[in-house]
Amino acid sequence: MADRIYYPNSELAAKAHCGSMAQYKQMHEKSIKEPEKFWGEIAKEFYWETPVLDNKFFSYNFDITKGDIFINWMEGATTNISFNLLDKNVKNGGGDKIAFYWEGNDPDDYSRLTYRKLLEEVCRFANVLKSKGVSKGDRVAIYMPMILELPIAMLACTRIGAVHSIVFAGYSSDSLAERILDSKAKVLITTDGVWRGEKLLHLKSICDDALEKVKKHGHEVQSCIVVAHMRRLSNPQGPANCGAGKTNGVVKNGTQTNSNELNLSWDDDRDCWWHDEMEDAEPSCYPVWMAAEDPLFILYTSGSTGKPKGVLHTTAGYLIYAATTFKYVFDYHPGDVYWCTADIGWITGHTYVVYGPLANGATSVLFEGTPFFPANDRYWSVVDKYKVSQFYTAPTAIRSLMKFGDGLVKKHDLSSLKVLGSVGEPINSEAWLWFYNLVGHGVCSIADTFWQTETGGHVITPLPGATPMKPGSATFPFFGVLPELLDEDGHIVEGEGEGYLVFRQPWPGMMRTLYGNHQRFQTTYFDRFHGYYCTGDGAKRDADGYLWVTGRVDDMLNVSGHLMSTAEVESVLAEHLSVAEAAVVSKPHAVKGQCLYCFITPNEGVTFDKKLQDELKKKVRERIGPFAQPDVIQHAPGLPKTRSGKIMRRILRKIAVGDKNVGDTSTLADEGVVELLFQLRPQV
Ligand code: WTA
Repeated sequence: MADRIYYPNSELAAKAHCGSMAQYKQMHEKSIKEPEKFWGEIAKEFYWETPVLDNKFFSYNFDITKGDIFINWMEGATTNISFNLLDKNVKNGGGDKIAFYWEGNDPDDYSRLTYRKLLEEVCRFANVLKSKGVSKGDRVAIYMPMILELPIAMLACTRIGAVHSIVFAGYSSDSLAERILDSKAKVLITTDGVWRGEKLLHLKSICDDALEKVKKHGHEVQSCIVVAHMRRLSNPQGPANCGAGKTNGVVKNGTQTNSNELNLSWDDDRDCWWHDEMEDAEPSCYPVWMAAEDPLFILYTSGSTGKPKGVLHTTAGYLIYAATTFKYVFDYHPGDVYWCTADIGWITGHTYVVYGPLANGATSVLFEGTPFFPANDRYWSVVDKYKVSQFYTAPTAIRSLMKFGDGLVKKHDLSSLKVLGSVGEPINSEAWLWFYNLVGHGVCSIADTFWQTETGGHVITPLPGATPMKPGSATFPFFGVLPELLDEDGHIVEGEGEGYLVFRQPWPGMMRTLYGNHQRFQTTYFDRFHGYYCTGDGAKRDADGYLWVTGRVDDMLNVSGHLMSTAEVESVLAEHLSVAEAAVVSKPHAVKGQCLYCFITPNEGVTFDKKLQDELKKKVRERIGPFAQPDVIQHAPGLPKTRSGKIMRRILRKIAVGDKNVGDTSTLADEGVVELLFQLRPQV
């Protein structure tokens, strides 16, 4: 029953950091009315080299008509994130605690890393970065799979004040090059390759291509540091460069990787092996003290105009927000084992694989593989193996696993689970109920967390010990967050209703700007409704005040939790010599949530055939990444346009789903084109 209310189980509530709605309401109210006091108390749990000044705790402008947008938290304070995540935990006696259990793509490959060892490896690698000429404020690009060296590299950047810019290792060389160019990264860190399921990805050679392209545009990356990940897997006696080292864990020989011989090309002036560099590096490194608002990282996200936006997060606010959301939303307690399946290449991995958990001294699973390898019960076997208590994943993964039936879940002992999390897109009630009843055996709370790359951490979410849940609703705002729904004219929608989801005031973890383009930051997020941060999502509020995020209201779409813009795909398609025009819309998809449906107008004399369709799909894969491959490419001799030439996507969306109820077409220059497009619809 989707409209039923599900209450947190009383055992969980009794021990929870926030154990009732009354407590939630009281804390939320304080966070809004007295943000300095609320966050000031939390900030005391962290180490500040220069303490926070009370009178400068918080200042901002959200109203573009009153001047530039700015957000400042804890101005004047200085700290270092790696110090708070590592040194502080080690000093407090947590040195021998496991920070990460690493689980490889092949179940035979696994290892672990304690807080003490992680600190040592981070310091070593920070020294390596320094030896490559990296210093405070420099950008470091990272293109890596889910291995221990990835958090090590990130934290090494934070140790010396360098700004990391991680590019998901499923992006193409073009996408990687574009991001390296925009951030003008000095160094690139990667691996020789990686297995994803049964597929081998040649990451180093993708980097070579990207660096070649970057060079053509006049920027040169000085060093490319390569982890010998494949070599290590195929040769247990090979470089023990994994952060786990030899003392703390095993990296076994995965049979899958034996046969592999990677043909790497090498530029001696630029390329070096991680393990060679680490060999002589000192295991200690004094942290660089960073101002509260100094940049921490850049993470690119899709923009509706096509060019990716470099979302910039800063130091102090992000730290306390990542830490606080992690603590309350997953209700983490010492002894728990937490697992977030997201790739670190996305914001979820930044905040909830690395920063949030480590800031709480948590023990996590870092998983390299896929849900389907070696079999479709991999997630459940990993939960069982590590006795995971908090499991955080995406609706698209849940939906794809539901297909394989309940038996694969029931085969495993999942009784360790207490909290389940969902992120990336609205979760449909069928998937929610399956997750709740089968995976969570009817006793786990589900945290349906709404947030964005831009928000840095959860902004609308239930708290597991407090919030009565409704399947599909992200429920209520987190501490410090004040959402509103606005109508087209910017009027506040009170009570039950629907509108644009906006936020009225900043919370510590939100983005500060778009890297190198403050103007775009202001127009993208603050121009539509003055005085508010505009999410680009729509939402409704029900009679009980619950928020239900309904999805994007702009030209963005969400494929398997990956946000992309129709413009970005259109511009790739339109580059093909046979294509005169391309229009892309989203179509609902049972597993992916949404998929790409593309309308193509070929040039005169070009035959629209399977070959062209395949070429176009390949082009999108190559230019953006495999996850962006269109599901449907339809022939469109013409497109529905207004007389002024604007493509009516509303109509294309109807055609994509075969819904003849297209509404008013009288503004179209040529109404006949609609019927033609219905006739040409492929049978999918
Ligand atoms: C969507 C991912 C509904 C939303 C953390 C948002 C969601 C975009 C949810 C951000 C949710 C994310 N319910 N929609 N629980 N979580 N979204 O930047 O459209 O990759 O704007 O950040 O994902 O995607 P991003």
